[in-house]
Amino acid sequence: MRHSVYRQAGKRIVDISIVLATLPVVLPLILCVSLLVRCQLGRPVLFRQQRPGRRGKPFTLYKFRTMSDQKNLHGETLSDEERLTRWGRFLRSTSLDELPELWNVLRGDMSLVGPRPLLTKYLELYTPEQCRRHGVRPGLTGWAQVNGRNNVDWDQKFRYDVWYVDHFGLWLDVKILLRTLLTVGRRENISAQNHATAPEFRGRTEGLVRETRPSPEGIAVIGAGGHAKVVIATLEDAGLNVTGLYDDNPRLWGQSIAGVPVVGPVGALASQIGCRAVIGVGDIPARKKLARQLDLDWVSVIHPRAYVHPSVQLGRGTVVFAGAVIQPEARVGAHAIVNTAASIDHDCSLGDFVHIGPGAHLAGSVQAGAGVFFGVGSCAIPGVSIGENTLVGAGAVVTRSLPASAVAVGTPARVLRYRDLLAKAA
Ligand SMILES: CC(C)(COP(=O)(O)OP(=O)(O)OC[C@H]1O[C@@H](n2cnc3c(N)ncnc32)[C@H](O)[C@@H]1OP(=O)(O)O)[C@@H](O)C(=O)NCCC(=O)NCCS
Repeated sequence: MRHSVYRQAGKRIVDISIVLATLPVVLPLILCVSLLVRCQLGRPVLFRQQRPGRRGKPFTLYKFRTMSDQKNLHGETLSDEERLTRWGRFLRSTSLDELPELWNVLRGDMSLVGPRPLLTKYLELYTPEQCRRHGVRPGLTGWAQVNGRNNVDWDQKFRYDVWYVDHFGLWLDVKILLRTLLTVGRRENISAQNHATAPEFRGRTEGLVRETRPSPEGIAVIGAGGHAKVVIATLEDAGLNVTGLYDDNPRLWGQSIAGVPVVGPVGALASQIGCRAVIGVGDIPARKKLARQLDLDWVSVIHPRAYVHPSVQLGRGTVVFAGAVIQPEARVGAHAIVNTAASIDHDCSLGDFVHIGPGAHLAGSVQAGAGVFFGVGSCAIPGVSIGENTLVGAGAVVTRSLPASAVAVGTPARVLRYRDLLAKAA
């Protein structure tokens, strides 16, 4: 099966086929475990909880109950450790408690393989990169689970999840399912050391402490101009370590911009395939050229004081500055810039390399093609669409759809001229 076919439809078909094929064995097992849970722990037999699914959409996850409802003398619920009975431990160590999730798979809430569905309260704690784990249906088992299960820390687990989202295919899924059977068979790595259950994820504040120390995992910034200064501030405020700046202006080499050294020309990064980087250049054609030239691990970054709804899809290399707001179901392509205090309302769909200038506001369902630039303080009314590479001038109000490659200014925005993109590219 071709990779893309599997990613679009095949995975769902394979999920349903496997669940149906295993039902003759699994159903009697489910019945037995239900009876035992009923006798050992009482009612309800099933544990139900809202969890975020694909694109953060909530669904009800079903599991067998493993904990009692025991309370202390003051009527307070006991700790997880105390409520987890021997029988519950057995269910967890054999992963039998997960069996009801097969129903979630049949319903389409989950897949057999995917990032584990975690608690809803974690949604707002993810970095944009970590949030990409919600790009696929959550899974019964996943790449993180077969690579250490609960014994790897959250950052590493999320890195595995995001890697899976970028690379999954039929053979990877088969490999993960087989490795899961082996892991479960050996009853390995079920709970993190010293915890009855996995420790709570506390989000960026943890990352802040850990990631500010210099580490080979730091992020390179391409460009050393004014825009790069804001990108550096965004990365640092998000608790990420900037390793160095790369710029083709030799006069900048050896200098320090916003406290970060300019290491050398952009070409120096060409050999560092897979290095984590972000482009700190505001000019759109220049950003396109750099993204095409370099094969790096582009990270997307959201300033901790920006608001991005968990359902938002952000492309790789996109940077969201302080005070910006991106509302539910909006999509922003790769290497885009959402500048200081800009807002993008629900259901907007913006292409790669767009630049939403400082204080620009896009109302709901605005569409903008790749390379569209919104000048400082400009805005667009709901539902308009703007063709590729069009520049909306500072303060303009877009009330009607605009063609591609135009420069539009004023209120209402009118085309001033068309852009000579070929001259700019040269
Ligand atoms: C739209 C823009 C690109 C036009 O630049 P330009 O092609 O160099 O055009 P000019 O400055 O020669 O102006 C041409 C005419 O348009 C008018 N004009 C230019 N920008 C305008 C704007 N934003 N709103 C209204 N009129 C504008 C000029 O006054 C001039 O009018 P005139 O011929 O009657 O004198 C530029 O003015 C602009 O708004 N850039 C956005 C900058 C920005 O927001 N940067 C954010 C960085 S993060």
